[in-house]
Amino acid sequence: MEASERRLIEDYLPVLGISAECTREKLGGHYLSQGQPRNLHLWWARRPLAAARAAVYATLVPAPATDAQRKSLDVFLKELCRWDKDRIARLDEARRQILEAAGGRPPKILDPFAGGGAIPLEALRLGCDATALELNPVAYLIELCTLVYPQQFGARLRDELARWGTRVIERVRAEVGDLYPRIPDAAGKGRARRPARQLDWEGKEAEPDGLTPIAYLWTRTVPCPNPVQRTHVVPLVRQTWLVRKKGRYVALRVIPDRQAMQVRFEVVSATSEGGLGFDPAAFSKRGEATCPLCNTAVSSEYVKQQGKTGRMGRQLMAVVAWRPDGRGKVYLEPDRALVPDDGDVLRRVEKLCAETGLTPPDEPIQDQDTMNIKVPLYGLTRFRDLFTPRQLLTLLTFVKHIRRAHEEMVGAGVDAELARAVATYLALILDRVVDRSTSLCHWDWSWEGTSNTYARQALPMVWDFSETNPFGGSSGDAAEFLRHALLVIDHCAAAGRPARVDRGSATRLPYADATFDAGGTDPPYYDNISYADLSDFFYVWLKRSVGHLYPEHFTGELTPKRAEIVAVPYRHGDDKARARRAYEALMEEALRECRRVLKPAAPLVAVYAHKTTAGWATLIKALRQAGFVVTEAWPLDTEMPDRVGQMQTAHLASSIFIVARRREGDDTTGDYLHRVRPRLQAIVAERVRTLFGLGISGSDLVIAAVGAGLRAYTEYARVELPNGDELDEEAFLDEVQREVLEVVLAQVMRVDRAGVGAVDRPTRFYVLARYEYGEAAVDFGEANILAKGLGVELDGPGGLSERPAPLVRKVKDTVALLDYTARGADEALGLPRDGAPPRLIDVLHRLLWLVEHTPAKVGEFLAAAQPDGGQLRLVAQALAGQPLGRAAGRGDGPAERTREQQALDRLLASWRPVVEETLFTRGGRP
Ligand SMILES: C[S@@+](CC[C@H](N)C(=O)[O-])C[C@H]1O[C@@H](n2cnc3c(N)ncnc32)[C@H](O)[C@@H]1O
Repeated sequence: MEASERRLIEDYLPVLGISAECTREKLGGHYLSQGQPRNLHLWWARRPLAAARAAVYATLVPAPATDAQRKSLDVFLKELCRWDKDRIARLDEARRQILEAAGGRPPKILDPFAGGGAIPLEALRLGCDATALELNPVAYLIELCTLVYPQQFGARLRDELARWGTRVIERVRAEVGDLYPRIPDAAGKGRARRPARQLDWEGKEAEPDGLTPIAYLWTRTVPCPNPVQRTHVVPLVRQTWLVRKKGRYVALRVIPDRQAMQVRFEVVSATSEGGLGFDPAAFSKRGEATCPLCNTAVSSEYVKQQGKTGRMGRQLMAVVAWRPDGRGKVYLEPDRALVPDDGDVLRRVEKLCAETGLTPPDEPIQDQDTMNIKVPLYGLTRFRDLFTPRQLLTLLTFVKHIRRAHEEMVGAGVDAELARAVATYLALILDRVVDRSTSLCHWDWSWEGTSNTYARQALPMVWDFSETNPFGGSSGDAAEFLRHALLVIDHCAAAGRPARVDRGSATRLPYADATFDAGGTDPPYYDNISYADLSDFFYVWLKRSVGHLYPEHFTGELTPKRAEIVAVPYRHGDDKARARRAYEALMEEALRECRRVLKPAAPLVAVYAHKTTAGWATLIKALRQAGFVVTEAWPLDTEMPDRVGQMQTAHLASSIFIVARRREGDDTTGDYLHRVRPRLQAIVAERVRTLFGLGISGSDLVIAAVGAGLRAYTEYARVELPNGDELDEEAFLDEVQREVLEVVLAQVMRVDRAGVGAVDRPTRFYVLARYEYGEAAVDFGEANILAKGLGVELDGPGGLSERPAPLVRKVKDTVALLDYTARGADEALGLPRDGAPPRLIDVLHRLLWLVEHTPAKVGEFLAAAQPDGGQLRLVAQALAGQPLGRAAGRGDGPAERTREQQALDRLLASWRPVVEETLFTRGGRP
């Protein structure tokens, strides 16, 4: 295949099928047993493997020649993206096609922002030579463990890890297992009074019949601010739910004991929520609370101040343990449990550090309030502050034994590189334990487990937290993480040969010019995620566990920030504009480097991880200025479906795959009027027609057509207007959107461009918005782009959400179209106003309403409205039409049609007598 030959990704992608596989992958528990690499270590914004596989495959094989070939790809790609019974059905065939297209030599693929490594892993699996580059040392280790070590060592790595992993866990358990003693069963003899060392090196248990604790549930506390009585503490617990399942409700009742001036917690269960007799969610909000003992108000400012002066404490509320039969959990009140004394534990931490030379993670937490890292506001300013003394001791003991295991492996003659690989895997397993072992993990009553620290891309303050037992066999269990890691090795080893993995900045790639056949990457996007700030949390532990094995990558106190491509103001004197400019400049530099190392005309697929096209301009600008032509774009659903919001909010693609090519013959100038514009029109007309024919519809079609339209502009380094001024990206993007919308509208209404022009703009907006979003509410920004593309405004004077006769309803950040049932009762709707003719959509909505409620008034209304009957019918047909049905995610059966579509069906069936003849007899245009 010639480098410049059109690729599949520039022609057709069955986006619905691939998106469905992505969702299946993100939701699917079955991927756990298949060693999905995301189970090895957290990395933010990992793309699903299915999307990465589809993108790599489609970038490397030629475009099909016929429609029949195109259609056959629907099944082929869906099967290629699916994991079925431990295998991918079409993998061998896909590899063969790729190799053949590359002339029998594995193509070289580069991802210069490799993160969790999804794209290079899929490139390996498809038989390519993959190169991954990443700035962040944490991601670098994840990449080594998924793209290099498993492929290099295979079963040897698996076996060594199984052996050493088990050994490390046993050793740590022997050393600190006494911190999590079994709890005497209530049915047994008496209650335990004092902590006893109950587990020994052999794992013998002094309390063999007791209950195994899984999690200790704590509330944070502050001294009560009551100026008279300052001797007691206020619990800051936010909510006390323990289980909330149909038929089983368990929560803690807060009991103020005013004699002892102490708050107690009592476990209460019921078969209904009401049966509990109290509201478990009625406690502190953002740290603001009322003292249950003396009713003094506690402000969040006071809480912050207490935190900063080291006076925030914690109180045990309950302990969760396995039932004696091991099936299900029991919730115990605090006095049933044995909890070691903090002072004793801290003395053990000191002793451990003195013996080993280790230190607790005293590194500072980035204390800018900008990145959702809120804990420093409450005095948790160092990473060590995120851990209870017990957590600190356990984690440091893990570090000690990982280091010892590495020394023993080397001493026992295990290959040095293999020993390093095993130790690195152990360190990543420890990171998973760390992620479940902070005072920011909360008890999740929906699945009765402990959440991880980074349940969100943030370090928010948590008022009640769950401290797990890493040997308890529940969430946060070290042995379980080891089991996952072993599966990940098998999974990745099966992907083929090792990749080349480098750590460095994408702005200075260590590769020769014209090295790679293609690029596939998912670049960071403005301030979306500050990977470096978030990953410091893991870095401080990796530095301790295996940093000495990677001296060139773990010398810094924290992760490198200077070269990170991210728009965070705190790194630019709190100046947002400067931060954005820095991001844009670095991104352009990185893409320029990318162009340099790609072969002439080689394709590059860049993921734009947003639902809307609002921010495209930046990436398009950077690509164009770096010497790329944008040739296509595909919207894919790569994220977890929002189960709550999905029905009410339009389900838009969460990533857009932008396809670009190295532009050859730089410094060309395009004449906008004579070259660029005619080409834009030709591309868009062809693309919309083809995509329609392939069954792609709604916002997917619009995005794909806009992507293709950008080619007309990005083919030139500079595009000039007739007056010699340069046309910028934003202006052109607006123009492409407008062009696409008009062409789509013409298709939907089955008229030519002139026919579209005769329909008023608000009506055009309504038809297209129904086409794109169906019945669902949509993000305001997204709908606004559509509105502006059609020359109307959503809000402000004369906006579509304004009175009289609003066409859309705005609720917070979303807008929803109003249908005839919401609008039609307005008697003035659809009548001329101030001498201006009515909007067609208003006439239609009023007409639908009258036909349904007061048919006798239809004649009078039409006589007053005087619509153009032909145009009105076109609008009615478009709104009732097939493409709309599909865009709304509905079929064509009567039960699946919206209420408005059903009303339109009835009206269209009786159009002649109801509309045409009435207009004819009343002097209108039928
Ligand atoms: C969106 S993520 C990639 C996610 C990846 N595709 C996955 O599936 O896991 C972007 C990555 O770019 C990295 N990055 C930021 N600045 C960089 C730079 N200057 N050079 C290389 N990588 C950088 C970040 O650390 C982050 O891992």
